[in-house]
Amino acid sequence: MRMVDLIEKKRNGEFLSKEEIDFMIAEYTSGEIPDYQMSAFAMAVYFQDMTDEEITHLTLAMANSGDVIDLSALEGIKVDKHSTGGVGDTTTLVLAPLVATLGVPVAKMSGRGLGHTGGTLDKFEAIPHFSIEMSEEKFIQSVNQLKVAVIGQSGDLAPADKRLYALRDVTATVESVPMIASSIMSKKIAAGADAIVLDVTVGDGAFMKTTEEATRLAQTMVRIGELAGRKTMAVISDMSEPLGFAIGNSLEVVEAIHALRGEGPADLMELVYTLAAQMLMLAEVTDDFEQAKKMLVEKIENGEALEKFREMVANQGGDVSIVDEPEKLLTASVKKELFAEKSGYITRMVADKIGVAAMKLGAGREKKEDDIDFAVGILLHKKVGDYVEVGESLLTIHANNENTHEVEEILRKNIFIGENATAPQLIHGIIT
Ligand code: URA
Ligand code: CA
Repeated sequence: MRMVDLIEKKRNGEFLSKEEIDFMIAEYTSGEIPDYQMSAFAMAVYFQDMTDEEITHLTLAMANSGDVIDLSALEGIKVDKHSTGGVGDTTTLVLAPLVATLGVPVAKMSGRGLGHTGGTLDKFEAIPHFSIEMSEEKFIQSVNQLKVAVIGQSGDLAPADKRLYALRDVTATVESVPMIASSIMSKKIAAGADAIVLDVTVGDGAFMKTTEEATRLAQTMVRIGELAGRKTMAVISDMSEPLGFAIGNSLEVVEAIHALRGEGPADLMELVYTLAAQMLMLAEVTDDFEQAKKMLVEKIENGEALEKFREMVANQGGDVSIVDEPEKLLTASVKKELFAEKSGYITRMVADKIGVAAMKLGAGREKKEDDIDFAVGILLHKKVGDYVEVGESLLTIHANNENTHEVEEILRKNIFIGENATAPQLIHGIIT
Protein backbone atom coordinates (compact mmCIF):
# COMPACT_ATOMS: atom_id res chain seq x y z
CA MET A 1 0.00 0.00 0.00
CA ARG A 2 1.24 3.50 -0.79
CA MET A 3 0.08 6.70 0.88
CA VAL A 4 0.08 8.55 -2.44
CA ASP A 5 -2.62 6.19 -3.75
CA LEU A 6 -4.77 6.79 -0.66
CA ILE A 7 -4.46 10.55 -1.08
CA GLU A 8 -5.45 10.22 -4.73
CA LYS A 9 -8.45 8.06 -3.86
CA LYS A 10 -9.73 10.55 -1.32
CA ARG A 11 -8.99 13.45 -3.66
CA ASN A 12 -11.22 11.77 -6.26
CA GLY A 13 -14.04 11.31 -3.75
CA GLU A 14 -13.62 7.57 -3.29
CA PHE A 15 -13.93 5.70 0.01
CA LEU A 16 -11.12 4.19 2.01
CA SER A 17 -11.36 0.75 3.58
CA LYS A 18 -10.59 -0.10 7.21
CA GLU A 19 -7.29 -1.69 6.09
CA GLU A 20 -6.29 1.46 4.23
CA ILE A 21 -7.12 3.73 7.16
CA ASP A 22 -5.37 1.43 9.64
CA PHE A 23 -2.29 1.40 7.41
CA MET A 24 -2.25 5.19 7.10
CA ILE A 25 -2.57 5.84 10.85
CA ALA A 26 -0.06 3.15 11.83
CA GLU A 27 2.53 4.46 9.37
CA TYR A 28 1.86 8.08 10.30
CA THR A 29 2.27 7.29 14.00
CA SER A 30 5.57 5.49 13.40
CA GLY A 31 6.86 8.35 11.24
CA GLU A 32 6.92 6.41 7.94
CA ILE A 33 4.34 8.71 6.43
CA PRO A 34 5.59 12.31 6.45
CA ASP A 35 3.58 15.37 7.48
CA TYR A 36 3.36 16.67 3.90
CA GLN A 37 1.48 13.59 2.73
CA MET A 38 -0.80 13.69 5.77
CA SER A 39 -1.48 17.39 5.10
CA ALA A 40 -2.55 16.61 1.55
CA PHE A 41 -4.80 13.87 2.87
CA ALA A 42 -6.39 16.22 5.44
CA MET A 43 -7.12 18.75 2.69
CA ALA A 44 -8.67 16.04 0.51
CA VAL A 45 -10.92 15.07 3.43
CA TYR A 46 -11.79 18.73 3.94
CA PHE A 47 -13.18 18.89 0.40
CA GLN A 48 -14.43 15.33 -0.13
CA ASP A 49 -15.71 14.41 3.34
CA MET A 50 -15.86 10.88 4.77
CA THR A 51 -18.63 8.37 5.39
CA ASP A 52 -19.58 7.42 8.95
CA GLU A 53 -17.81 4.08 8.41
CA GLU A 54 -14.60 5.82 7.33
CA ILE A 55 -14.78 8.22 10.29
CA THR A 56 -15.32 5.29 12.66
CA HIS A 57 -12.27 3.45 11.29
CA LEU A 58 -10.22 6.63 11.56
CA THR A 59 -11.43 7.21 15.13
CA LEU A 60 -10.60 3.70 16.28
CA ALA A 61 -7.23 3.68 14.50
CA MET A 62 -6.27 6.94 16.24
CA ALA A 63 -7.67 5.74 19.60
CA ASN A 64 -5.46 2.64 19.32
CA SER A 65 -2.36 4.55 18.20
CA GLY A 66 -1.14 4.92 21.80
CA ASP A 67 -2.14 4.00 25.34
CA VAL A 68 -5.72 2.94 25.93
CA ILE A 69 -6.82 3.44 29.52
CA ASP A 70 -8.36 0.43 31.15
CA LEU A 71 -11.07 1.51 33.58
CA SER A 72 -12.47 -1.99 34.08
CA ALA A 73 -11.41 -1.86 37.75
CA LEU A 74 -14.07 0.81 38.25
CA GLU A 75 -17.50 -0.38 39.25
CA GLY A 76 -20.43 0.72 37.12
CA ILE A 77 -20.88 2.30 33.71
CA LYS A 78 -18.22 4.94 33.08
CA VAL A 79 -19.80 7.94 31.41
CA ASP A 80 -17.56 10.73 30.19
CA LYS A 81 -18.61 14.27 29.26
CA HIS A 82 -16.85 16.41 26.69
CA SER A 83 -17.40 19.96 25.52
CA THR A 84 -16.16 21.16 22.15
CA GLY A 85 -15.11 24.36 23.85
CA GLY A 86 -16.40 27.57 25.29
CA VAL A 87 -15.86 30.64 27.43
CA GLY A 88 -16.64 30.64 31.15
CA ASP A 89 -17.67 27.01 30.88
CA THR A 90 -17.94 26.09 34.55
CA THR A 91 -20.12 22.99 34.01
CA THR A 92 -17.65 20.21 34.88
CA LEU A 93 -16.93 21.69 38.33
CA VAL A 94 -20.62 21.42 39.16
CA LEU A 95 -21.57 18.36 37.18
CA ALA A 96 -18.79 16.03 38.36
CA PRO A 97 -19.70 16.01 42.08
CA LEU A 98 -23.42 16.26 41.27
CA VAL A 99 -23.50 13.14 39.09
CA ALA A 100 -21.32 11.31 41.64
CA THR A 101 -24.01 11.80 44.34
CA LEU A 102 -26.21 9.44 42.34
CA GLY A 103 -23.63 6.67 42.46
CA VAL A 104 -22.44 7.10 38.88
CA PRO A 105 -18.63 6.94 38.63
CA VAL A 106 -17.10 10.15 37.29
CA ALA A 107 -13.51 9.34 36.35
CA LYS A 108 -12.63 12.65 34.80
CA MET A 109 -9.54 13.22 32.74
CA SER A 110 -9.43 16.88 31.91
CA GLY A 111 -7.27 19.24 29.92
CA ARG A 112 -5.78 22.69 30.23
CA GLY A 113 -7.01 25.84 28.57
CA LEU A 114 -5.59 27.46 25.45
CA GLY A 115 -6.47 30.75 23.78
CA HIS A 116 -9.94 32.07 24.57
CA THR A 117 -11.03 28.69 25.95
CA GLY A 118 -10.51 27.78 29.60
CA GLY A 119 -9.54 24.32 30.84
CA THR A 120 -11.19 22.37 33.64
CA LEU A 121 -7.83 21.27 35.02
CA ASP A 122 -6.72 24.89 35.52
CA LYS A 123 -10.00 25.68 37.27
CA PHE A 124 -9.60 22.88 39.80
CA GLU A 125 -6.00 23.92 40.37
CA ALA A 126 -7.23 27.36 41.40
CA ILE A 127 -8.24 25.64 44.66
CA PRO A 128 -5.11 25.95 46.85
CA HIS A 129 -3.12 22.69 47.07
CA PHE A 130 -5.62 20.78 44.89
CA SER A 131 -3.61 18.12 43.08
CA ILE A 132 -4.56 16.78 39.68
CA GLU A 133 -1.78 14.21 39.81
CA MET A 134 -2.59 10.82 41.23
CA SER A 135 -1.33 7.28 40.79
CA GLU A 136 -3.58 5.05 38.74
CA GLU A 137 -4.17 3.02 41.90
CA LYS A 138 -5.35 6.02 43.90
CA PHE A 139 -7.49 7.23 40.99
CA ILE A 140 -9.32 3.90 40.78
CA GLN A 141 -9.67 3.74 44.56
CA SER A 142 -10.98 7.34 44.72
CA VAL A 143 -13.59 6.77 42.05
CA ASN A 144 -14.73 3.50 43.60
CA GLN A 145 -15.11 5.13 47.03
CA LEU A 146 -16.16 8.71 46.33
CA LYS A 147 -17.44 8.14 42.78
CA VAL A 148 -15.47 11.14 41.56
CA ALA A 149 -11.89 12.24 40.84
CA VAL A 150 -10.32 14.62 38.34
CA ILE A 151 -6.86 14.11 36.92
CA GLY A 152 -4.70 15.41 34.10
CA GLN A 153 -4.22 13.27 31.06
CA SER A 154 -1.59 10.67 31.78
CA GLY A 155 0.11 8.39 29.33
CA ASP A 156 0.27 8.80 25.62
CA LEU A 157 -3.35 9.01 24.50
CA ALA A 158 -4.10 9.03 20.78
CA PRO A 159 -0.66 10.27 19.62
CA ALA A 160 -1.78 10.05 15.98
CA ASP A 161 -4.46 12.65 16.74
CA LYS A 162 -2.01 14.81 18.63
CA ARG A 163 0.25 15.03 15.58
CA LEU A 164 -2.57 15.36 13.11
CA TYR A 165 -4.35 18.07 15.10
CA ALA A 166 -1.15 20.13 15.23
CA LEU A 167 -0.75 19.63 11.48
CA ARG A 168 -4.36 20.63 10.76
CA ASP A 169 -3.82 23.74 12.82
CA VAL A 170 -1.17 24.99 10.36
CA THR A 171 -2.73 23.69 7.13
CA ALA A 172 -6.21 25.24 7.42
CA THR A 173 -7.89 21.86 7.88
CA VAL A 174 -9.24 22.13 11.44
CA GLU A 175 -12.81 23.02 10.45
CA SER A 176 -13.74 19.68 8.98
CA VAL A 177 -16.52 17.61 10.53
CA PRO A 178 -14.93 14.18 9.95
CA MET A 179 -11.60 15.46 11.26
CA ILE A 180 -13.05 17.11 14.40
CA ALA A 181 -15.37 14.19 15.11
CA SER A 182 -12.59 11.58 14.87
CA SER A 183 -10.18 13.78 16.83
CA ILE A 184 -12.52 14.19 19.79
CA MET A 185 -13.94 10.68 19.80
CA SER A 186 -10.53 8.99 19.50
CA LYS A 187 -9.40 10.69 22.72
CA LYS A 188 -12.61 9.83 24.58
CA ILE A 189 -12.38 6.18 23.53
CA ALA A 190 -8.68 5.96 24.45
CA ALA A 191 -9.57 7.44 27.86
CA GLY A 192 -11.69 4.38 28.61
CA ALA A 193 -15.27 5.68 28.54
CA ASP A 194 -18.14 3.20 28.18
CA ALA A 195 -20.53 5.98 27.25
CA ILE A 196 -20.08 9.59 26.20
CA VAL A 197 -22.12 12.78 26.57
CA LEU A 198 -21.06 15.53 24.19
CA ASP A 199 -21.68 19.22 24.62
CA VAL A 200 -21.37 20.58 21.09
CA THR A 201 -21.20 24.34 21.37
CA VAL A 202 -22.33 26.79 18.72
CA GLY A 203 -21.72 30.50 18.29
CA ASP A 204 -18.88 33.03 18.42
CA GLY A 205 -17.07 31.21 21.23
CA ALA A 206 -17.25 27.79 19.51
CA PHE A 207 -15.71 25.92 16.53
CA MET A 208 -19.12 25.69 14.93
CA LYS A 209 -20.68 29.03 14.10
CA THR A 210 -24.11 27.85 12.96
CA THR A 211 -26.66 25.45 14.42
CA GLU A 212 -26.63 23.48 11.16
CA GLU A 213 -22.88 22.87 11.37
CA ALA A 214 -23.05 22.02 15.07
CA THR A 215 -25.92 19.60 14.43
CA ARG A 216 -23.99 17.84 11.70
CA LEU A 217 -20.94 17.50 14.00
CA ALA A 218 -23.11 16.24 16.86
CA GLN A 219 -24.93 13.72 14.67
CA THR A 220 -21.65 12.46 13.25
CA MET A 221 -20.09 12.00 16.68
CA VAL A 222 -23.16 10.24 18.07
CA ARG A 223 -23.22 7.85 15.10
CA ILE A 224 -19.54 7.01 15.22
CA GLY A 225 -19.78 6.58 19.00
CA GLU A 226 -22.51 3.99 18.48
CA LEU A 227 -20.58 2.31 15.63
CA ALA A 228 -17.57 2.11 17.96
CA GLY A 229 -19.73 0.46 20.63
CA ARG A 230 -20.00 3.47 22.97
CA LYS A 231 -23.44 4.78 23.83
CA THR A 232 -23.31 8.45 22.91
CA MET A 233 -25.61 11.45 23.24
CA ALA A 234 -25.08 15.09 22.38
CA VAL A 235 -26.46 18.44 23.41
CA ILE A 236 -26.12 21.44 21.14
CA SER A 237 -25.62 24.43 23.40
CA ASP A 238 -25.32 28.13 22.76
CA MET A 239 -21.89 29.70 23.07
CA SER A 240 -22.59 33.12 21.59
CA GLU A 241 -22.13 34.75 25.02
CA PRO A 242 -20.05 33.34 27.91
CA LEU A 243 -21.70 30.74 30.13
CA GLY A 244 -22.76 31.99 33.56
CA PHE A 245 -21.26 35.19 34.95
CA ALA A 246 -17.70 34.18 35.80
CA ILE A 247 -14.79 33.85 33.35
CA GLY A 248 -11.45 33.07 34.97
CA ASN A 249 -10.26 30.24 37.17
CA SER A 250 -10.88 31.32 40.78
CA LEU A 251 -13.97 33.26 39.73
CA GLU A 252 -15.36 30.09 38.19
CA VAL A 253 -14.60 28.01 41.29
CA VAL A 254 -16.60 30.57 43.29
CA GLU A 255 -19.39 30.39 40.70
CA ALA A 256 -19.38 26.58 40.91
CA ILE A 257 -19.67 26.63 44.70
CA HIS A 258 -22.59 29.03 44.48
CA ALA A 259 -24.16 26.71 41.91
CA LEU A 260 -23.69 23.71 44.19
CA ARG A 261 -25.39 25.71 46.95
CA GLY A 262 -28.38 26.20 44.66
CA GLU A 263 -27.51 29.77 43.70
CA GLY A 264 -26.11 29.20 40.23
CA PRO A 265 -26.75 31.31 37.12
CA ALA A 266 -29.79 30.13 35.14
CA ASP A 267 -27.90 29.26 31.94
CA LEU A 268 -25.14 27.37 33.73
CA MET A 269 -27.69 25.36 35.72
CA GLU A 270 -29.76 24.56 32.64
CA LEU A 271 -26.69 23.18 30.87
CA VAL A 272 -25.51 21.28 33.95
CA TYR A 273 -28.92 19.65 34.45
CA THR A 274 -29.26 18.77 30.76
CA LEU A 275 -25.81 17.18 30.44
CA ALA A 276 -25.95 15.50 33.85
CA ALA A 277 -29.42 14.06 33.09
CA GLN A 278 -28.02 12.50 29.92
CA MET A 279 -25.15 11.04 31.92
CA LEU A 280 -27.66 9.44 34.30
CA MET A 281 -29.58 8.01 31.36
CA LEU A 282 -26.46 6.54 29.77
CA ALA A 283 -25.46 5.12 33.18
CA GLU A 284 -28.91 3.47 33.29
CA VAL A 285 -29.97 5.18 36.51
CA THR A 286 -33.24 6.09 34.82
CA ASP A 287 -34.52 6.17 31.26
CA ASP A 288 -36.62 9.26 31.83
CA PHE A 289 -35.04 12.65 31.17
CA GLU A 290 -37.41 14.65 33.39
CA GLN A 291 -37.03 12.12 36.18
CA ALA A 292 -33.23 12.40 35.89
CA LYS A 293 -33.41 16.18 36.15
CA LYS A 294 -35.60 15.92 39.23
CA MET A 295 -33.12 13.63 40.94
CA LEU A 296 -30.33 16.10 40.22
CA VAL A 297 -32.22 19.14 41.47
CA GLU A 298 -32.89 17.29 44.71
CA LYS A 299 -29.16 16.60 45.22
CA ILE A 300 -28.42 20.31 44.90
CA GLU A 301 -31.31 21.31 47.16
CA ASN A 302 -30.48 18.83 49.92
CA GLY A 303 -26.82 19.86 49.97
CA GLU A 304 -25.40 16.46 48.98
CA ALA A 305 -23.77 17.79 45.82
CA LEU A 306 -21.90 20.48 47.77
CA GLU A 307 -20.79 17.85 50.32
CA LYS A 308 -19.55 15.66 47.49
CA PHE A 309 -17.52 18.60 46.17
CA ARG A 310 -16.04 19.05 49.64
CA GLU A 311 -15.10 15.35 49.84
CA MET A 312 -13.55 15.54 46.40
CA VAL A 313 -11.48 18.62 47.29
CA ALA A 314 -10.29 16.95 50.50
CA ASN A 315 -9.40 13.72 48.68
CA GLN A 316 -7.22 15.63 46.23
CA GLY A 317 -5.43 17.57 48.94
CA GLY A 318 -7.20 20.87 48.36
CA ASP A 319 -8.02 23.51 50.96
CA VAL A 320 -11.59 22.63 52.00
CA SER A 321 -12.12 25.90 53.85
CA ILE A 322 -12.84 27.52 50.45
CA VAL A 323 -16.05 25.50 50.25
CA ASP A 324 -17.52 27.63 53.04
CA GLU A 325 -15.61 30.80 52.23
CA PRO A 326 -15.12 30.76 48.45
CA GLU A 327 -14.71 34.52 48.18
CA LYS A 328 -11.30 34.30 49.79
CA LEU A 329 -10.05 32.90 46.47
CA LEU A 330 -10.64 36.29 44.87
CA THR A 331 -7.29 37.85 45.62
CA ALA A 332 -6.75 40.04 42.54
CA SER A 333 -5.25 43.37 43.58
CA VAL A 334 -7.13 45.52 41.05
CA LYS A 335 -10.88 45.54 40.59
CA LYS A 336 -12.32 47.75 37.87
CA GLU A 337 -15.88 48.19 36.74
CA LEU A 338 -16.96 48.71 33.16
CA PHE A 339 -19.96 51.04 32.97
CA ALA A 340 -22.73 51.16 30.36
CA GLU A 341 -22.36 54.15 28.04
CA LYS A 342 -26.09 54.20 27.31
CA SER A 343 -29.35 52.72 28.51
CA GLY A 344 -30.93 49.79 26.74
CA TYR A 345 -30.86 46.03 26.39
CA ILE A 346 -27.71 43.97 26.03
CA THR A 347 -28.00 42.57 22.52
CA ARG A 348 -24.66 40.77 22.23
CA MET A 349 -21.62 39.80 24.30
CA VAL A 350 -19.17 38.20 21.89
CA ALA A 351 -17.99 35.07 23.70
CA ASP A 352 -14.60 34.50 22.08
CA LYS A 353 -13.58 38.17 22.37
CA ILE A 354 -14.52 38.22 26.05
CA GLY A 355 -12.51 35.02 26.42
CA VAL A 356 -9.55 36.76 24.78
CA ALA A 357 -9.93 39.70 27.20
CA ALA A 358 -9.81 37.27 30.15
CA MET A 359 -6.78 35.57 28.60
CA LYS A 360 -5.00 38.92 28.28
CA LEU A 361 -5.58 39.55 31.99
CA GLY A 362 -3.67 36.31 32.57
CA ALA A 363 -6.60 33.91 33.09
CA GLY A 364 -5.66 31.91 30.00
CA ARG A 365 -2.71 30.99 27.82
CA GLU A 366 -1.74 32.54 24.53
CA LYS A 367 0.82 29.77 24.01
CA LYS A 368 0.90 26.32 25.61
CA GLU A 369 3.93 27.19 27.77
CA ASP A 370 2.42 30.36 29.30
CA ASP A 371 1.72 30.56 33.01
CA ILE A 372 -1.70 31.58 34.18
CA ASP A 373 -2.90 33.70 37.08
CA PHE A 374 -5.79 31.97 38.87
CA ALA A 375 -7.06 35.13 40.57
CA VAL A 376 -7.78 37.23 37.48
CA GLY A 377 -10.74 37.27 35.13
CA ILE A 378 -14.05 38.89 34.40
CA LEU A 379 -17.25 38.82 36.43
CA LEU A 380 -20.27 39.80 34.35
CA HIS A 381 -23.17 41.54 36.05
CA LYS A 382 -25.39 41.46 32.98
CA LYS A 383 -26.21 38.97 30.26
CA VAL A 384 -27.78 39.21 26.81
CA GLY A 385 -31.43 40.25 27.19
CA ASP A 386 -30.86 42.23 30.40
CA TYR A 387 -31.74 45.92 30.64
CA VAL A 388 -29.06 48.39 31.76
CA GLU A 389 -29.18 52.03 32.75
CA VAL A 390 -26.47 54.36 31.51
CA GLY A 391 -23.66 54.36 34.08
CA GLU A 392 -24.63 50.99 35.48
CA SER A 393 -21.86 48.43 35.94
CA LEU A 394 -21.71 45.78 33.20
CA LEU A 395 -18.91 43.78 34.72
CA THR A 396 -15.94 43.79 37.08
CA ILE A 397 -12.43 43.17 35.82
CA HIS A 398 -10.25 41.29 38.31
CA ALA A 399 -6.62 42.06 37.47
CA ASN A 400 -3.19 41.95 39.01
CA ASN A 401 -1.94 44.86 36.95
CA GLU A 402 -3.21 48.45 36.79
CA ASN A 403 -2.80 48.54 33.04
CA THR A 404 -6.13 47.13 31.91
CA HIS A 405 -6.60 49.59 29.06
CA GLU A 406 -6.41 47.07 26.20
CA VAL A 407 -8.76 44.67 27.99
CA GLU A 408 -11.31 47.42 28.59
CA GLU A 409 -11.12 48.32 24.91
CA ILE A 410 -11.82 44.73 23.83
CA LEU A 411 -14.74 44.46 26.25
CA ARG A 412 -16.24 47.77 25.24
CA LYS A 413 -16.12 46.82 21.55
CA ASN A 414 -17.73 43.45 22.12
CA ILE A 415 -20.65 44.25 24.38
CA PHE A 416 -23.54 45.73 22.44
CA ILE A 417 -26.49 47.69 23.83
CA GLY A 418 -29.59 48.24 21.69
CA GLU A 419 -33.31 48.83 21.62
CA ASN A 420 -34.48 45.40 22.58
CA ALA A 421 -33.22 41.87 23.03
CA THR A 422 -34.16 38.64 24.69
CA ALA A 423 -31.93 36.01 26.29
CA PRO A 424 -30.73 33.49 23.67
CA GLN A 425 -32.08 29.98 23.69
CA LEU A 426 -29.42 27.91 25.45
CA ILE A 427 -30.19 24.38 24.23
CA HIS A 428 -30.52 24.20 20.44
CA GLY A 429 -31.04 20.49 20.24
CA ILE A 430 -30.47 17.06 21.71
CA ILE A 431 -29.14 14.27 19.54
CA THR A 432 -29.56 10.69 20.66
N1 URA B 1 -11.08 19.51 19.64
C1 URA B 1 -10.31 18.45 19.34
O1 URA B 1 -9.86 17.74 20.21
N2 URA B 1 -10.05 18.21 18.05
C2 URA B 1 -10.52 18.96 17.05
O2 URA B 1 -10.24 18.68 15.91
C3 URA B 1 -11.31 20.08 17.37
C4 URA B 1 -11.58 20.31 18.69
CA1 CA C 1 -18.92 30.67 34.01
